Amino acid sequence: MRIPLLIAGLLSAGLASAQGSAEALNLRATAATCANCHGTDGQSVAADAGMQRLAGLDKAYLVEQLTAFREGKRQATVMHQLVKGYTPAQLEAIAGYFAAQPTK
Ligand code: HEC
Repeated sequence: MRIPLLIAGLLSAGLASAQGSAEALNLRATAATCANCHGTDGQSVAADAGMQRLAGLDKAYLVEQLTAFREGKRQATVMHQLVKGYTPAQLEAIAGYFAAQPTK
């Protein structure tokens, strides 16, 4: 009687952590759509050439910039178009992802 319960418990714990890592993977994949221009994990290699590094920037600052692009309040060449492909919740999650990256 106890063993099936234990197995059920272990299984649901396993599922819960698999779900957690699926979310982390999804966030990483979403943030990777920014890598072409801003570098892997936001570690821009061309920061001196004017390509903004996103890694380690303040989350609130990032959300503010992305929202400004989205609402057309900040002039841009490409970002105002790009951000329209993401929901505000996705942009907030992406901002959190880059804010959490170490500055190398
Ligand atoms: C096609 C290249 C390209 C891609 C892809 C791209 N960006 Fe940008 N990003 C730029 C350019 C260029 C700027 C400067 C503003 C402009 O002219 O659009 C910029 C500026 C920014 C800024 C302002 C930085 C600052 O310090 O003021 C943020 C934040 C940003 N991008 C976030 C992102 C995020 C998040 C993604 C992915 C969802 C992304 N970018 C994808 C090219 C890109």
